Amino acid sequence: MNMNPTSKPLLLLGSLLLLAAGTLPLQATTACVPRERDALLAFKRGITSDPLGLLTSWKEDDHDCCRWRGVTCSNLTGHVLRLHLNGGYDLDRFELVGLVGEISPQLLHLNHIEHLDLSINSLEEPSGQIPKFLGSMNSLRYLNLSSIPFTGTVPPQLGNLSNLRYLDLSDMEGGVHLTDISWLPRLGSLKFLNLTYIDLSAASDWPYVMNMIPSLRVLSLSFCRLQRANQSLTHFNLTKLEKLDLSMNYFDHPYASCWFWNLTILKFLDLSQNRLYDQLPIALGDMTSLRVLRISNNDLGSMAPNLLRNLCNLEVLDLDESLSGGNMTELFGSLPQCSSSKLSELKMSYNNINGSLPAGLFRQFPNLVTLDMSINLITGPLPVEIGMLDSLTYLNLRGNNLEGVITEEHFVSLKSLKYIDLSDNQLLKIVVDPGCDLDLSYNNLSGTIPSGSQLGTLYMEHPDMYNGNNGLCGPPLRRNCSGDIEPRQHGYGDDNKAGHVPEPMFFYLGLVSGFIAGLWVVFCIILFKKTWRIAYFRIFDKVYDKIYVLAVVTWASLFQKMTAQ
Ligand SMILES: *[C@@H]1O[C@H](CO)[C@@H](O)[C@H](O)[C@H]1NC(C)=O
Ligand SMILES: *[C@@H]1O[C@H](CO)[C@@H](O)[C@H](O)[C@H]1NC(C)=O
Ligand SMILES: *[C@@H]1O[C@H](CO)[C@@H](O)[C@H](O)[C@H]1NC(C)=O
Ligand SMILES: *[C@@H]1O[C@H](CO)[C@@H](O)[C@H](O)[C@H]1NC(C)=O
Ligand SMILES: *[C@@H]1O[C@H](CO)[C@@H](O)[C@H](O)[C@H]1NC(C)=O
Ligand SMILES: *[C@@H]1O[C@H](CO)[C@@H](O)[C@H](O)[C@H]1NC(C)=O
Ligand SMILES: *[C@@H]1O[C@H](CO)[C@@H](O)[C@H](O)[C@H]1NC(C)=O
Ligand SMILES: *[C@@H]1O[C@H](CO)[C@@H](O)[C@H](O)[C@H]1NC(C)=O
Ligand SMILES: *[C@@H]1O[C@H](CO)[C@@H](O)[C@H](O)[C@H]1NC(C)=O
Ligand SMILES: *[C@@H]1O[C@H](CO)[C@@H](O)[C@H](O)[C@H]1NC(C)=O
Ligand SMILES: *[C@@H]1O[C@H](CO)[C@@H](O)[C@H](O)[C@H]1NC(C)=O
Repeated sequence: MNMNPTSKPLLLLGSLLLLAAGTLPLQATTACVPRERDALLAFKRGITSDPLGLLTSWKEDDHDCCRWRGVTCSNLTGHVLRLHLNGGYDLDRFELVGLVGEISPQLLHLNHIEHLDLSINSLEEPSGQIPKFLGSMNSLRYLNLSSIPFTGTVPPQLGNLSNLRYLDLSDMEGGVHLTDISWLPRLGSLKFLNLTYIDLSAASDWPYVMNMIPSLRVLSLSFCRLQRANQSLTHFNLTKLEKLDLSMNYFDHPYASCWFWNLTILKFLDLSQNRLYDQLPIALGDMTSLRVLRISNNDLGSMAPNLLRNLCNLEVLDLDESLSGGNMTELFGSLPQCSSSKLSELKMSYNNINGSLPAGLFRQFPNLVTLDMSINLITGPLPVEIGMLDSLTYLNLRGNNLEGVITEEHFVSLKSLKYIDLSDNQLLKIVVDPGCDLDLSYNNLSGTIPSGSQLGTLYMEHPDMYNGNNGLCGPPLRRNCSGDIEPRQHGYGDDNKAGHVPEPMFFYLGLVSGFIAGLWVVFCIILFKKTWRIAYFRIFDKVYDKIYVLAVVTWASLFQKMTAQ
């Protein structure tokens, strides 16, 4: 029984077939232009396979091509303005399932076309290269060739598309490279440029070239094999740039020498996985427009005290695997300190952070949805203030040295919680007040039922208390445990001298095996106050979802606690 809480969403995702297929044609008052209709039919003849049926409405005997799927005409002139025919992926098989064939040069007859989206189709035939003639479609304002598996280079003819606002050449997994990018600044109105996965390793002048496109608002150069970002610019033209994605490149130099720290209007900055190192520059503290900052997976760096204090618009802060250590108390002081924080995602895993979790963390960031502090050296208790985070959906504190007791108070307002992992910590005494986890039915618990006189008594009174937990075994149920791994489970109720007096007791439930670093015990527990737990499950039943509360302790630490009893 391997209880992997992520596998279910993945499966769901996997079975999703993306069939997004263009926009509906506008109702046309003027029929389409015959020459443009012929051009579209020529395009169709270049298609050898259409598994999604994108072109089934394109019929030789239908004269009004403006009503064909993916085609939009001007309602005044009848000219084709948009051709939007994106294919999709079969996520089960990781396969492209769009159109197969070539892009017919006859499309040049669409003299007025402004928007061309042929993304996620296998239209790389006959040469495998991006067709040069696309550079002559000079009415285009939007060109999307994303995820067409082209090879070779990007033709400089695209520099003739002087009306272009949006250029998306991302994810062409055939392996496209681009050495001479000097034609890019000829796209004088360009707002959006996505070159993700294009090999720009030979274009060492890239910051200078981009700086000559002052209209740019979004620049995505992720996975572009860029070698460095420490070029020095004397003057900044990019005064409109809001989104800069430079993740997954090979900048092998200090953070501070990057050229973009003066771009104080940036809202989105992604530098993940770049081998950047040393101190984050003080200038970062002035980028107060930032909403998303991701610097995960770099070589170890450090953060000056108070660095991010004024970043009051920050919604996402991803510092996974990017710090060379730190004391939680002091790091907390470096995070945004704003009267009303918008932070919804805070990730600081794999950072060797020591110290304890300040209660103020949860008061400071009441809107947290995702909190990941896993694999650090954090000690001390889990503050009960965490129970105030009523938007929290994902909580991961796995692999720290937390200790102490977790009570219902920790979960008082965690109404949105879907995933919690407190595994591999020192703690996990979970206190349940039997005066109120106690109806355990329909929680999909698994493992050996702990022995204990109180549970025994409860079972006599409520023989259905374990219903709907098919993984549970052992007395008082008739189902025998299989016996492959069977550490003895105890509840404090064992030696409860007062018998029926409802005292708090320690309660361990659930058992799944794992063989990482010795024998692990996984506790799968749903621990909520009965009243609102039931109300909550009603909501969740509707969306066919479940809540998992996962707690893992190492066998060794559990064993110590049990022998101490
Ligand atoms: C023509 O199309 C535009 C949008 O492209 C729309 O706003 C307008 O109402 C349409 N006119 C007619 C007569 O359909
Ligand atoms: C280009 O197409 C892809 C896939 O259809 C889509 O995800 C992306 O948002 C499009 N790019 C732009 C700029 O609209
Ligand atoms: C288009 O661009 C290419 C190369 O950049 C150039 O040689 C050609 O003259 C241009 N064509 C037109 C029509 O401007
Ligand atoms: C650029 O393209 C990649 C791959 O298609 C995508 O993941 C990314 O979100 C795009 N960037 C922007 C800013 O749209
Ligand atoms: C700024 O942009 C303009 C217009 O593209 C260009 O002529 C100029 O050289 C750019 N300045 C720098 C420093 O790159
Ligand atoms: C960037 O900012 C630093 C300090 O804030 C300043 O010294 C430098 O001249 C600026 N560079 C540009 C190109 O504006
Ligand atoms: C930029 O970084 C590279 C390493 O990626 C280094 O070799 C080079 O000397 C640096 N250049 C400057 C101007 O700092
Ligand atoms: C905690 O981390 C800080 C910063 O990395 C370090 O200086 C300090 O020695 C650490 N304290 C302990 C007890 O390990
Ligand atoms: C972390 O810093 C606080 C305040 O500076 C200090 O009291 C505490 O001992 C430190 N913890 C560790 C583990 O270094
Ligand atoms: C119940 O838990 C088992 C693992 O013990 C898991 O395989 C199964 O998918 C869960 N069922 C539901 C309905 O979540
Ligand atoms: C359960 O195990 C006991 C001994 O361990 C055995 O006597 C009993 O027959 C088993 N019951 C079932 C249903 O397998």
